[in-house]
Amino acid sequence: MKTIFSGIQPSGTITLGNYIGAMRQFVDLQNDYNCYFCVVDQHAITMPQDRLELRKNIKSLAAMYIAVGLDPEKVTLFIQSEVPAHAQAGWMLQCVSYIGELERMTQFKDKSSGKDGVSAGLLTYPPLMAADILLYQTDIVPVGEDQKQHLELTRDLAERFNRKYNDIFTIPEVRIPKTGARIMSLQDPLKKMSKSDANKKSFISMLDEPSQIVKKIKSAVTDSEGIVKYDKENKPGISNLMSIYSILTGKSLTEIEETYEGKGYGDFKGELAEIVAGHIKPIQDRYYELMDSEELDDILDLGAEKANFAAGKMVKKMETAMGLGRKRKKK
Ligand code: TYM
Repeated sequence: MKTIFSGIQPSGTITLGNYIGAMRQFVDLQNDYNCYFCVVDQHAITMPQDRLELRKNIKSLAAMYIAVGLDPEKVTLFIQSEVPAHAQAGWMLQCVSYIGELERMTQFKDKSSGKDGVSAGLLTYPPLMAADILLYQTDIVPVGEDQKQHLELTRDLAERFNRKYNDIFTIPEVRIPKTGARIMSLQDPLKKMSKSDANKKSFISMLDEPSQIVKKIKSAVTDSEGIVKYDKENKPGISNLMSIYSILTGKSLTEIEETYEGKGYGDFKGELAEIVAGHIKPIQDRYYELMDSEELDDILDLGAEKANFAAGKMVKKMETAMGLGRKRKKK
């Protein structure tokens, strides 16, 4: 059985973008693959975090993974910092990475440009991400479009390590969904929807109340034409909303255009808000149930145990390949 690995940062409440671009695919894939899904908390601290908020977000994200439909009997769900092999492997892979290639990462450029006090961790984040993936002999990594460059680097690092030290890593493939790989901000449809956006109106959180969802969708930036038509270049706002509509209902973009022919954006947005709120409601119900129980801790304990077992073996292989530590003399 092939192996899947993916991770999400607990740097805020999960957005509809994370759900559509990443989580929804995880649910589909869990029946056919050996899956590891991770709350990558060590990635989150590359940017400043409030200690108590981070703690809350870690549990919240873990609960969300289950609430969207992942079955803990089928997948290994765990928290990155509870599996020390990630940081150990991350260090070894940092030593295989070149500063130049890390500086070229667009996410690093976006998050660091014009800022003072940028952490070194923000630069060395991709080798840690590579470690996450390579520790599990991962075949496929399902992610949204924005992670593609990091995945290319992961493949380069794995190939470089295999060539230089020993051929121990599987080279992973990236899997990006055909639709919904890049859900855009509701306030600036040329920017991706992001949980760390300071403008809360720009994203729908998976924990938003129906009334907030209605407000956010109604105030989403569109254009003055008033025609529900998919045209990503010239009408990015309405096209983004149409993608969300299409993904959540299974209706094609043409069907949506036909449904709203002669109607304005008001009708379309009102119905889309209902669709989104209706889709999210059962997820929220399960989420609150989990947050109130001990079940989640049991799931995460078991996940950490399974992940530690697999990743611990791989870290030993990496250390041996690089010549770290010692071999005991035979008596
Ligand atoms: P993160 O936490 O930013 O996002 C988690 C997942 O959600 C996807 N995503 C989106 N998809 C569509 N539209 C959007 N607007 C949108 N925003 C986010 C992301 O592509 C991602 O799949 N570096 C990663 C976390 C990570 C990871 C890993 C992923 C760490 N180690 C190993 C895969 C494998 C990140 O910051 O994702």
